[in-house]
Amino acid sequence: MKNFLLVCAMVLGVGIQFLPVGGQLNPQVERAHTIESRMEPPAHVQQILNRSCKNCHSDATVWPWYSRIAPMSLLIGKDVFNARKTMNLSKWSVQAGLSERSEMGLLTAACADVQTDRMPLPRYTMLHPEAKLSAEEKKAFCTWTAQESKRLAKQIREKAASAHSTTNVDPTKSPSL
Ligand code: HEC
Repeated sequence: MKNFLLVCAMVLGVGIQFLPVGGQLNPQVERAHTIESRMEPPAHVQQILNRSCKNCHSDATVWPWYSRIAPMSLLIGKDVFNARKTMNLSKWSVQAGLSERSEMGLLTAACADVQTDRMPLPRYTMLHPEAKLSAEEKKAFCTWTAQESKRLAKQIREKAASAHSTTNVDPTKSPSL
């Protein structure tokens, strides 16, 4: 019986390696689409993004050897797939960046997630303790997200104002109330 179970475990362990993985790939990063070219984060924020977020939230993932062996490959592949889908820092301008409002939303969520230790995912920091953020780093990160949100809010207001002034074709008439 013991031998039978052992053989089963071995067959499963080998068999699972043949499941399709597919996620362990890094699409080409286009510099023009990155968060860096969109909002030029200051060096200390850049360092946080690189160290604690980009392994999941970018197309520049560094895949560890164990990420190619099932069942870890399936779990890690899924995390990176979902992380890229929600916020891909390599595709910022063609994803969140398509609207200032969604950029603001993501930045606000990122600050909240960092403050509450939801991000980086605890199951990730367990294996990568260097990705953990100190209290000062969390604060600095949120100061930056707040600054960027303010700048984006101003952009939204300016866009709305200029849209209004172009639709208001007759400058001699005062706007109706
Ligand atoms: C181990 C991979 C991993 C790392 C590292 C990681 N994330 Fe995530 N993140 C995810 C996954 C998976 C999701 C989507 C599913 C979910 O919400 O759990 C996500 C979702 C998010 C979201 C959107 C969800 C929401 O709250 O609305 C934000 C914002 C976010 N992460 C920010 C960050 C930031 C900022 C960092 C770095 C400080 C980071 N993440 C590091 C895996 C990761």
